[in-house]
Amino acid sequence: MSTGSSKLWGGRFSADLADLALAYSESLDADAPMAAEDLWGSQGHALMLASCGILSVEDLREILRWLEHARQEWEAGRLELRREREDIHMNVESYLREHAGPEMGGRLHTARSRNDQVVTDCRMHLRARLLDVQEAVAELQAVLLRLAAAHTTTVMPGYTHTQHAQPISAGFWLSGHAASLARDQQRLAEVYLRVNRCPLGAAALAGTSFPTDRELTARLLGFDAVEEHALDAVGSRDFLTESLAALAILGVTCSRLAEEIVVFSTWEFGMLEVSDAHASGSSIMPQKKNPCLAELARGRTGRLIGRLVQALTTFKGLISGYNRDLQEDKPPLWEALDVAESTAQVLGAMLAEAELKPARMRELVGKNFATATELANFLVQERQLPFRTCHEIIGALVGALIKEGKTLDDHVRVRELLAAAGQELSLEQIASVVDPEACLRRQVSLGSTGPEPTARMITSLQSELEQVRNLVRERRALLHGAREHTASLVAGVLEGRSLEDLEW
Ligand code: ARG
Repeated sequence: MSTGSSKLWGGRFSADLADLALAYSESLDADAPMAAEDLWGSQGHALMLASCGILSVEDLREILRWLEHARQEWEAGRLELRREREDIHMNVESYLREHAGPEMGGRLHTARSRNDQVVTDCRMHLRARLLDVQEAVAELQAVLLRLAAAHTTTVMPGYTHTQHAQPISAGFWLSGHAASLARDQQRLAEVYLRVNRCPLGAAALAGTSFPTDRELTARLLGFDAVEEHALDAVGSRDFLTESLAALAILGVTCSRLAEEIVVFSTWEFGMLEVSDAHASGSSIMPQKKNPCLAELARGRTGRLIGRLVQALTTFKGLISGYNRDLQEDKPPLWEALDVAESTAQVLGAMLAEAELKPARMRELVGKNFATATELANFLVQERQLPFRTCHEIIGALVGALIKEGKTLDDHVRVRELLAAAGQELSLEQIASVVDPEACLRRQVSLGSTGPEPTARMITSLQSELEQVRNLVRERRALLHGAREHTASLVAGVLEGRSLEDLEW
């Protein structure tokens, strides 16, 4: 049958897509990252069709031979993708038509549509990339926890309202970020469960009249299960927005760490110095050493939040089934995955080589009444006074010391002022309470900054991290196993074995 259109969908068309229309609608750049998945998906689909008797074994062999060629060409960087073919699916099908003849190209598309194909490819690529992000985050956590373990008795000021609050340890500060990242890991691991479900076989929207075996396709492609409802499977992208949400939240976690790298490495704070390899200079001010990577990490979080909002906005209000708007799903997703992974990598590398400055931390923590709360606590414990009363007494003490230009280190004056307020304490008592290291050691409650509770948390965060790493390894192994299984079936068919002889 002749047609006026050269397109694979051109049957009812009398003219080709205008250049402008093609340029506006083709999605090759967004699809290219999923090329390997499109080929794997096509192999799995063809195998399923043959195993269900929908495709003859001869046709299967011919299709698989050329899909395998295409796969090898792609891996060697030689597969030419053409924009006028609109997308990756049409490129693969056209490759088959060119080499195996139009009939084979056409037969592969039985009981499938680009609508289920594209979202299948997307889920397959996304699941692997989520594991990449988890690995990068795991590395960052490992660096944080390693540093934290070495600094459970290194005192530094803890802040509320960005004002000196109470002494904490550097290990407590760093492990706090690791604890946040542990929840990011939980979210990423959880999202994976809903990403790794197979929409293939939903066809355009309604399923198909062919006796397909969607469970088999799902298994061959490494999915945990079938995403069953055909209309929902082709039209829904909540697996994608959920992934973007997890990435955006991860970005916010990273941006807070980045902010502290920036602020703590200023001259004013001076508690941290980033290595030369992770800093940049100024083109005009020769003395400058700028923590640009941390600033970029902080800034790039804007992209992660933006890509989430972009995707949500694109999908909102879409009518059931596939709509071409959905083509807009991949660019924000790929960008967010790149940004999240590289940000975690950069922060990990930066921290691994950064130098903490314990002497400066100690200096700052002694300067600004950070142990005042502990002095109030001590009075409560010693004198059985209500906390509010002690808060008042110590507040007045601090006020008086500030007026006199003194600090809590002026033990004699502290003793006099407390005595005047009716609270006699010895110089030894005062010295031991306002000493930041001693103060740190007294913090014993669950989750507190004391060396013991902090060490306990570091140990448990380390073992949770080990579990995350194991899970990522297991999931990768499952994907690899499925890939190998499909490849061995393909090899079996190409060797001329009968379908019954293959290990399905
Ligand atoms: N390029 C499309 C996308 O990314 C593929 C599916 C197109 N389906 C269609 N019927 N035009 O969503």
